[in-house]
Amino acid sequence: MAIEAVNLKVNYGNKEILRNINLHIPDKEIVTIIGPNGSGKSTLIKALSRCLKVTEGTVNLYGKNINNISTKKIAQKMAILPQVKNISADITVENLVSYGRYPHLRIGKRLNMEDKDIISWAIEKTGLVDLRDRHVATLSGGERQRAWIAMALAQKPKILLLDEPTTYLDVSYQLEVLELVKELNKSLNLTVVMVLHDLNQAARYSDNIFVLNEGEIFEWGNPENIIRSTLLKDIFRIESHIYRDEINDCPYFIPYKVI
Ligand SMILES: Nc1ncnc2c1ncn2[C@@H]1O[C@H](COP(=O)(O)OP(=O)(O)O)[C@@H](O)[C@H]1O
Ligand SMILES: [Mg+2]
Repeated sequence: MAIEAVNLKVNYGNKEILRNINLHIPDKEIVTIIGPNGSGKSTLIKALSRCLKVTEGTVNLYGKNINNISTKKIAQKMAILPQVKNISADITVENLVSYGRYPHLRIGKRLNMEDKDIISWAIEKTGLVDLRDRHVATLSGGERQRAWIAMALAQKPKILLLDEPTTYLDVSYQLEVLELVKELNKSLNLTVVMVLHDLNQAARYSDNIFVLNEGEIFEWGNPENIIRSTLLKDIFRIESHIYRDEINDCPYFIPYKVI
Protein backbone atom coordinates (compact mmCIF):
# COMPACT_ATOMS: atom_id res chain seq x y z
CA MET A 1 0.00 0.00 0.00
CA ALA A 2 1.56 3.29 -1.08
CA ILE A 3 -0.57 5.62 1.01
CA GLU A 4 -3.14 4.95 3.66
CA ALA A 5 -5.16 7.62 5.46
CA VAL A 6 -6.93 6.66 8.67
CA ASN A 7 -9.71 8.82 10.12
CA LEU A 8 -8.24 12.07 8.90
CA LYS A 9 -9.65 15.33 10.07
CA VAL A 10 -8.28 18.68 8.94
CA ASN A 11 -9.31 22.05 10.32
CA TYR A 12 -8.36 25.54 9.22
CA GLY A 13 -8.76 27.40 12.50
CA ASN A 14 -12.17 26.43 13.80
CA LYS A 15 -13.45 25.47 10.39
CA GLU A 16 -13.61 21.76 9.67
CA ILE A 17 -12.43 21.16 6.11
CA LEU A 18 -11.99 17.38 5.98
CA ARG A 19 -13.51 14.70 8.22
CA ASN A 20 -13.76 10.89 8.37
CA ILE A 21 -11.25 10.48 5.59
CA ASN A 22 -10.25 6.85 5.17
CA LEU A 23 -8.51 5.86 2.00
CA HIS A 24 -6.11 3.37 0.51
CA ILE A 25 -3.93 4.13 -2.44
CA PRO A 26 -2.45 0.89 -3.80
CA ASP A 27 1.07 0.89 -5.14
CA LYS A 28 1.42 1.46 -8.91
CA GLU A 29 -2.15 2.66 -9.43
CA ILE A 30 -3.49 5.91 -10.82
CA VAL A 31 -5.95 7.28 -8.31
CA THR A 32 -7.92 10.44 -8.97
CA ILE A 33 -9.73 12.69 -6.52
CA ILE A 34 -12.77 14.47 -7.92
CA GLY A 35 -15.31 16.72 -6.26
CA PRO A 36 -16.97 20.13 -6.53
CA ASN A 37 -15.02 23.35 -5.95
CA GLY A 38 -14.18 23.83 -2.30
CA SER A 39 -14.87 20.18 -1.40
CA GLY A 40 -11.35 19.82 0.03
CA LYS A 41 -9.38 18.16 -2.78
CA SER A 42 -6.29 20.37 -2.51
CA THR A 43 -6.43 20.14 1.27
CA LEU A 44 -6.43 16.35 1.02
CA ILE A 45 -3.44 16.30 -1.33
CA LYS A 46 -1.56 18.56 1.08
CA ALA A 47 -2.47 16.39 4.06
CA LEU A 48 -1.33 13.21 2.29
CA SER A 49 2.04 14.77 1.54
CA ARG A 50 2.42 16.35 5.00
CA CYS A 51 2.48 19.84 3.48
CA LEU A 52 -0.30 20.43 5.96
CA LYS A 53 -0.65 19.13 9.49
CA VAL A 54 -3.72 17.02 10.12
CA THR A 55 -5.91 17.78 13.13
CA GLU A 56 -6.69 14.12 13.79
CA GLY A 57 -5.86 10.77 12.25
CA THR A 58 -2.80 9.38 10.52
CA VAL A 59 -1.27 9.13 7.10
CA ASN A 60 0.89 6.09 6.47
CA LEU A 61 3.45 6.08 3.70
CA TYR A 62 4.33 2.48 2.79
CA GLY A 63 3.02 1.42 6.18
CA LYS A 64 4.89 4.00 8.22
CA ASN A 65 3.34 6.99 9.97
CA ILE A 66 4.35 10.03 7.94
CA ASN A 67 4.94 12.03 11.13
CA ASN A 68 7.83 9.70 11.95
CA ILE A 69 9.58 10.13 8.60
CA SER A 70 12.02 12.97 7.93
CA THR A 71 11.06 15.58 5.34
CA LYS A 72 14.00 14.51 3.22
CA LYS A 73 12.93 10.85 3.28
CA ILE A 74 9.37 11.82 2.37
CA ALA A 75 10.67 13.83 -0.58
CA GLN A 76 12.61 10.78 -1.75
CA LYS A 77 9.38 8.78 -1.77
CA MET A 78 6.86 11.32 -3.06
CA ALA A 79 6.86 14.38 -5.27
CA ILE A 80 4.05 16.89 -5.33
CA LEU A 81 2.94 19.35 -7.97
CA PRO A 82 0.79 21.88 -6.16
CA GLN A 83 -2.12 23.68 -7.79
CA VAL A 84 -0.43 27.06 -7.42
CA LYS A 85 3.26 27.20 -8.23
CA ASN A 86 5.67 30.06 -7.64
CA ILE A 87 9.09 30.32 -9.20
CA SER A 88 11.32 33.16 -10.27
CA ALA A 89 10.75 34.07 -13.91
CA ASP A 90 14.33 33.72 -15.15
CA ILE A 91 14.96 30.09 -14.25
CA THR A 92 15.74 27.65 -17.05
CA VAL A 93 14.07 24.28 -17.57
CA GLU A 94 17.27 22.49 -16.61
CA ASN A 95 17.60 24.52 -13.40
CA LEU A 96 14.02 23.85 -12.46
CA VAL A 97 14.47 20.13 -13.05
CA SER A 98 17.69 20.12 -11.00
CA TYR A 99 15.73 21.24 -7.93
CA GLY A 100 14.25 17.77 -7.93
CA ARG A 101 17.63 16.39 -6.86
CA TYR A 102 17.90 18.48 -3.70
CA PRO A 103 16.19 15.96 -1.41
CA HIS A 104 18.93 13.51 -2.40
CA LEU A 105 21.95 15.76 -1.85
CA ARG A 106 24.10 15.43 1.22
CA ILE A 107 24.44 18.61 3.23
CA GLY A 108 26.80 21.03 1.48
CA LYS A 109 27.24 18.71 -1.51
CA ARG A 110 26.74 19.75 -5.11
CA LEU A 111 25.09 17.85 -7.92
CA ASN A 112 27.31 14.95 -8.97
CA MET A 113 27.42 12.99 -12.23
CA GLU A 114 24.64 10.69 -11.14
CA ASP A 115 22.42 13.66 -10.29
CA LYS A 116 23.17 15.19 -13.68
CA ASP A 117 22.33 11.92 -15.43
CA ILE A 118 19.02 11.76 -13.60
CA ILE A 119 18.25 15.38 -14.56
CA SER A 120 18.95 14.57 -18.22
CA TRP A 121 16.85 11.43 -17.96
CA ALA A 122 13.90 13.41 -16.54
CA ILE A 123 14.24 16.00 -19.30
CA GLU A 124 14.25 13.26 -21.94
CA LYS A 125 11.38 11.37 -20.37
CA THR A 126 9.17 14.47 -20.55
CA GLY A 127 10.22 15.41 -24.09
CA LEU A 128 12.00 18.63 -23.12
CA VAL A 129 15.46 18.02 -24.60
CA ASP A 130 15.17 20.89 -27.08
CA LEU A 131 13.86 23.21 -24.40
CA ARG A 132 16.32 22.52 -21.58
CA ASP A 133 17.99 25.94 -21.81
CA ARG A 134 14.78 27.90 -22.26
CA HIS A 135 13.43 30.07 -19.49
CA VAL A 136 10.39 28.46 -17.92
CA ALA A 137 8.48 31.72 -18.24
CA THR A 138 8.68 31.51 -22.05
CA LEU A 139 7.17 28.01 -22.30
CA SER A 140 3.64 27.21 -23.37
CA GLY A 141 1.28 25.98 -20.67
CA GLY A 142 1.73 22.34 -21.68
CA GLU A 143 5.51 22.61 -21.87
CA ARG A 144 5.64 24.31 -18.50
CA GLN A 145 3.55 21.58 -16.91
CA ARG A 146 5.93 19.01 -18.42
CA ALA A 147 8.87 20.90 -16.93
CA TRP A 148 7.29 20.68 -13.48
CA ILE A 149 6.66 16.99 -13.97
CA ALA A 150 10.30 16.61 -14.99
CA MET A 151 11.35 18.28 -11.73
CA ALA A 152 9.14 15.87 -9.82
CA LEU A 153 10.63 12.92 -11.75
CA ALA A 154 14.18 14.05 -10.95
CA GLN A 155 13.22 13.45 -7.35
CA LYS A 156 12.97 9.78 -8.36
CA PRO A 157 9.81 9.37 -6.34
CA LYS A 158 7.66 6.27 -6.05
CA ILE A 159 4.55 8.43 -5.76
CA LEU A 160 3.56 11.49 -7.75
CA LEU A 161 0.83 13.81 -6.44
CA LEU A 162 -0.63 16.24 -8.97
CA ASP A 163 -3.17 18.89 -8.09
CA GLU A 164 -5.14 19.80 -11.21
CA PRO A 165 -2.25 19.29 -13.65
CA THR A 166 -4.43 20.13 -16.66
CA THR A 167 -6.27 23.24 -15.51
CA TYR A 168 -5.81 26.24 -17.83
CA LEU A 169 -4.41 24.04 -20.59
CA ASP A 170 -5.87 23.68 -24.08
CA VAL A 171 -7.41 20.27 -24.62
CA SER A 172 -4.45 19.00 -26.67
CA TYR A 173 -2.06 19.89 -23.83
CA GLN A 174 -4.44 18.34 -21.31
CA LEU A 175 -4.25 15.04 -23.15
CA GLU A 176 -0.50 15.39 -23.57
CA VAL A 177 -0.02 15.78 -19.81
CA LEU A 178 -2.37 12.91 -18.97
CA GLU A 179 -0.79 10.62 -21.57
CA LEU A 180 2.60 11.44 -20.05
CA VAL A 181 1.28 10.65 -16.57
CA LYS A 182 -0.09 7.33 -17.83
CA GLU A 183 3.15 6.48 -19.58
CA LEU A 184 5.16 7.25 -16.42
CA ASN A 185 2.78 5.12 -14.38
CA LYS A 186 3.33 2.19 -16.75
CA SER A 187 7.03 2.49 -17.49
CA LEU A 188 8.25 3.50 -14.01
CA ASN A 189 5.55 1.80 -11.92
CA LEU A 190 4.88 5.23 -10.51
CA THR A 191 1.93 5.53 -8.16
CA VAL A 192 -0.10 8.59 -9.16
CA VAL A 193 -2.57 10.53 -7.04
CA MET A 194 -4.12 13.43 -8.88
CA VAL A 195 -6.95 15.90 -8.69
CA LEU A 196 -8.82 16.36 -11.95
CA HIS A 197 -11.66 18.64 -12.84
CA ASP A 198 -12.77 16.85 -15.96
CA LEU A 199 -14.73 13.80 -14.87
CA ASN A 200 -14.47 12.13 -18.28
CA GLN A 201 -10.71 12.41 -18.12
CA ALA A 202 -10.80 11.00 -14.59
CA ALA A 203 -12.80 8.04 -15.92
CA ARG A 204 -10.38 7.48 -18.75
CA TYR A 205 -7.09 7.70 -16.89
CA SER A 206 -7.81 6.32 -13.40
CA ASP A 207 -7.74 2.86 -11.89
CA ASN A 208 -9.75 4.19 -8.97
CA ILE A 209 -11.59 7.43 -8.21
CA PHE A 210 -12.41 9.04 -4.87
CA VAL A 211 -15.32 11.45 -4.79
CA LEU A 212 -15.02 14.20 -2.21
CA ASN A 213 -18.06 16.15 -1.17
CA GLU A 214 -18.13 18.80 1.55
CA GLY A 215 -14.98 17.46 3.13
CA GLU A 216 -15.96 13.78 3.18
CA ILE A 217 -15.42 10.85 0.88
CA PHE A 218 -18.82 10.33 -0.65
CA GLU A 219 -17.84 7.28 -2.66
CA TRP A 220 -14.89 5.55 -4.24
CA GLY A 221 -14.39 2.84 -6.78
CA ASN A 222 -13.35 2.14 -10.34
CA PRO A 223 -14.60 4.44 -13.12
CA GLU A 224 -17.58 2.17 -13.88
CA ASN A 225 -18.72 2.49 -10.27
CA ILE A 226 -18.32 6.24 -10.13
CA ILE A 227 -19.63 7.45 -13.49
CA ARG A 228 -23.28 6.77 -12.69
CA SER A 229 -26.17 9.11 -13.33
CA THR A 230 -27.28 9.18 -9.68
CA LEU A 231 -23.84 10.15 -8.46
CA LEU A 232 -23.46 12.82 -11.13
CA LYS A 233 -26.83 14.15 -10.08
CA ASP A 234 -26.23 14.04 -6.32
CA ILE A 235 -22.73 15.47 -6.30
CA PHE A 236 -22.33 17.50 -9.47
CA ARG A 237 -25.98 18.53 -9.95
CA ILE A 238 -26.25 17.44 -13.56
CA GLU A 239 -28.52 15.14 -15.50
CA SER A 240 -26.44 13.08 -17.89
CA HIS A 241 -26.40 10.23 -20.36
CA ILE A 242 -23.77 7.58 -19.84
CA TYR A 243 -21.97 5.77 -22.65
CA ARG A 244 -19.03 3.48 -23.14
CA ASP A 245 -15.83 4.59 -24.84
CA GLU A 246 -14.90 1.33 -26.57
CA ILE A 247 -11.57 2.61 -27.81
CA ASN A 248 -10.27 3.59 -24.38
CA ASP A 249 -12.34 0.97 -22.58
CA CYS A 250 -13.93 3.31 -20.07
CA PRO A 251 -17.27 4.98 -19.38
CA TYR A 252 -18.01 8.58 -20.35
CA PHE A 253 -20.98 10.85 -19.97
CA ILE A 254 -22.64 13.76 -21.67
CA PRO A 255 -24.39 16.19 -19.35
CA TYR A 256 -27.63 17.66 -20.70
CA LYS A 257 -29.19 19.58 -17.85
CA VAL A 258 -28.20 21.39 -14.68
CA ILE A 259 -30.41 20.62 -11.73
N1 LIG B 1 -5.51 28.39 4.04
C1 LIG B 1 -6.83 28.29 4.23
N2 LIG B 1 -7.43 28.87 5.30
C2 LIG B 1 -8.76 28.74 5.51
N3 LIG B 1 -9.60 28.05 4.71
C3 LIG B 1 -9.06 27.47 3.63
C4 LIG B 1 -7.66 27.55 3.32
N4 LIG B 1 -7.43 26.84 2.18
C5 LIG B 1 -8.63 26.36 1.80
N5 LIG B 1 -9.60 26.73 2.65
C6 LIG B 1 -11.03 26.35 2.57
O1 LIG B 1 -11.10 24.94 2.62
C7 LIG B 1 -12.13 24.45 1.76
C8 LIG B 1 -11.54 23.42 0.84
O2 LIG B 1 -10.57 24.04 -0.01
P1 LIG B 1 -9.71 23.24 -1.09
O3 LIG B 1 -9.09 22.07 -0.42
O4 LIG B 1 -8.82 24.20 -1.76
O5 LIG B 1 -10.86 22.73 -2.07
P2 LIG B 1 -10.78 22.20 -3.58
O6 LIG B 1 -9.35 21.96 -3.91
O7 LIG B 1 -11.62 20.96 -3.58
O8 LIG B 1 -11.41 23.25 -4.44
C9 LIG B 1 -12.71 25.67 1.08
O9 LIG B 1 -13.88 26.03 1.76
C10 LIG B 1 -11.64 26.72 1.23
O10 LIG B 1 -12.22 28.01 1.29
MG1 LIG C 1 -8.06 22.68 -5.35
